[in-house]
Amino acid sequence: MTKLFTPFSIKGVTLKNRVGMSPMCTYSAYEEDGKVTSWHKVHYGARALGQVALVMLEATAVSTQGRISPQDLGIWSDEQIPGLSELVDVIHANGSIAGIQIGHAGRKADLKEPIIAPSPIPFNDNFQVPQEMTIKQIEETIQRFKDGVQRAKKAGFDIIELHGAHGYLISEFLSPITNKRNDEYGGSKEKRFLFLEKIVKEVKDIWSGPLFIRLSIEEYQDDGNHPEDMLYYVKKLKEQGVDFIDCSSGAITPVPPPTFPGYQVRFSDFIKNNGDIPTSTVGLITSPVQAEEILNNNRADIVFLGRELLRNPNWPIYAAKELKADIQIPHQYQRGWL
Ligand SMILES: Cc1cc2nc3c(=O)[nH]c(=O)nc-3n(C[C@H](O)[C@H](O)[C@H](O)COP(=O)(O)O)c2cc1C
Repeated sequence: MTKLFTPFSIKGVTLKNRVGMSPMCTYSAYEEDGKVTSWHKVHYGARALGQVALVMLEATAVSTQGRISPQDLGIWSDEQIPGLSELVDVIHANGSIAGIQIGHAGRKADLKEPIIAPSPIPFNDNFQVPQEMTIKQIEETIQRFKDGVQRAKKAGFDIIELHGAHGYLISEFLSPITNKRNDEYGGSKEKRFLFLEKIVKEVKDIWSGPLFIRLSIEEYQDDGNHPEDMLYYVKKLKEQGVDFIDCSSGAITPVPPPTFPGYQVRFSDFIKNNGDIPTSTVGLITSPVQAEEILNNNRADIVFLGRELLRNPNWPIYAAKELKADIQIPHQYQRGWL
């Protein structure tokens, strides 16, 4: 029996296998209204048909100012709920669990409108200098995360993931590189946590399903957060009732992470085994044997695939064949796999 094709259950939601689609922006809300298009339905539906157990939508913005690009998906308006709901139906109808990553781009918003961040430090010369958020803007943004989660719930998502990684707004508050505030939201590790702590508190009031958070476990700079620092946050998040940590790394600054097959597995391993919380890993995982190694050595509970699933939406079916796992192939495609 392969571990990759055993189910994984969390808070009453069961994934039929351990393959997840990593959230990936597709910049395909062409009308710049943040709404789901037919393209999204085909794109995510194809991965569900390909037997990816958890289809996690791309970073979906809680406000127009929180978009990475004008073509991002959005969850800032009730008008966006019907399209998201139809997308959930497509994913469910094809046998997969639907997750959504909810986020705010902070200083990494590539927009014409003014952008905001904990401190007025630009990401690089190509980005605007962000406005330092006022307390009022911080409070409004916490409310926007709550409203976004409420809409995701109405749309029928099974799993909600807060985007706390890659130098977007939440991770900008967590990181000493990007958060130079002198008020209650900056300074010590505990104060840098307050923004995320308040978001989670508000979200937990209205969402009792599985709550995931994606975090950059290593920031690859001496003055940034490292796994021990992130473990401190993870323990606090666990106390607050966060269920799962989606472990990624980097992108706080333009410094590229050193990449190699499985380059982030050590982070999910560290957080899972020291934080006593389920985790996922991601990053240059392309072979079924690699995924088996990670799961069997207890280094993660789910394996997320990013670019490999852009190349091959049917990766889980190929993996099942290679690992000799007996899986249900959609009946319309069975003759293709004889
Ligand atoms: C086109 C593209 C878009 C991405 N968008 C997101 C995103 O919306 N949210 C996120 O957390 N990570 C995003 N990522 C990072 C991926 O989720 C993943 O962590 C990364 O690509 C490493 O995994 P891989 O080697 O399997 O691709 C994106 C990556 C790519 C290639």
